[in-house]
Amino acid sequence: MATSQNILITGGTGLIGSRLVEMLGSKGHKIAVLSRQAGPMRHAKVYRWDPGKGEIDSRAIENTDVIIHLAGAGIGEKRWTKARRREILDSRVKPVYLIAEKMKIAGVIPSVFVSASGVSLYDQQDFERRNTEKSPAGNSFLAEVVKEWEHAADIFSDQGVRTVKMRTGLVLDAKGGAFPKIAAPVKMGLGAALGSGKQWMPWIHLEDICRLYVEAAENPAFRGPYNAVAPECVTNRVFMKELCRILRRPFWPVNVPAAMLKIIFGEMAAILLEGGNCVNERIRNEIFFHYRYPALAGALESLHD
Ligand SMILES: NC(=O)c1ccc[n+]([C@@H]2O[C@H](COP(=O)([O-])OP(=O)(O)OC[C@H]3O[C@@H](n4cnc5c(N)ncnc54)[C@H](OP(=O)(O)O)[C@@H]3O)[C@@H](O)[C@H]2O)c1
Repeated sequence: MATSQNILITGGTGLIGSRLVEMLGSKGHKIAVLSRQAGPMRHAKVYRWDPGKGEIDSRAIENTDVIIHLAGAGIGEKRWTKARRREILDSRVKPVYLIAEKMKIAGVIPSVFVSASGVSLYDQQDFERRNTEKSPAGNSFLAEVVKEWEHAADIFSDQGVRTVKMRTGLVLDAKGGAFPKIAAPVKMGLGAALGSGKQWMPWIHLEDICRLYVEAAENPAFRGPYNAVAPECVTNRVFMKELCRILRRPFWPVNVPAAMLKIIFGEMAAILLEGGNCVNERIRNEIFFHYRYPALAGALESLHD
């Protein structure tokens, strides 16, 4: 086992954070979680912060070796009004500068900064390109968010801190995140492809993304951006069809019209209707990471109650 480290996690109460805290805690690491409101957590000490107001309990950052930055307002929770767009951006970017500033004042120099990031960095309307970590960024709202989010993380790499950016695909879990919402209509017998069905859905199982974060914290070989997605990237049509098969529900050959989703979700419908193909090139070629769920069928089976 790697030696015990002091790990600070922002957004440690969320889908990825809660499972990650369990994994890191059971490996003997000492964990501090920064939360705006959470009560006590098993395996972690919880400290208050209000990144919007620039407030942070300074005890949280004492002796920090590793920072894992997961905090961020939900992308698919509320309509993308102007205020919500600002919140989505600020809640990811401002905390990085806040922690960097407070650590500088306190004279704390971490050895690793691991930031969540997203595959929505890449062009989501080009369904032909296979995006590796070297592919160019797109111009969508989410691509702009990811650019600023990753740029903020560079404040640590510029100081010589090993910095990792987890460009994460859709995280699959039975209870949290987007999957239960995707599965709900399928369970009611209404499974069908969304829009053209040709958009890609890079995904990763919750267990694997959390195991990647553990690796990134412990393994000095991790550095820079990684497409944190399963090796098998599928289109929306294939995803929905496979989900229907596993849930033993019908897959209807008539796609859900894009116009209808745009009326219901506004611009946020882009999350459902767009998506680039994404390849885990650096994980495959540079890191000896063994996925527990490399293929969609196995991942979906594991979520099936
Ligand atoms: N899940 C996915 O499919 C997925 C895919 C790609 C990228 N990611 C990224 O990975 C990170 C973690 O994902 P997740 O699914 O675990 O997210 P999550 O379940 O939504 O949790 C994020 C945490 O961020 C904190 N938070 C929420 N709104 C905030 C705000 N306005 N200001 C500051 N903190 C706020 C909350 O903690 P407190 O309430 O305790 O403060 C929350 O528990 C996110 O940045 C997300 O964008 C996730």
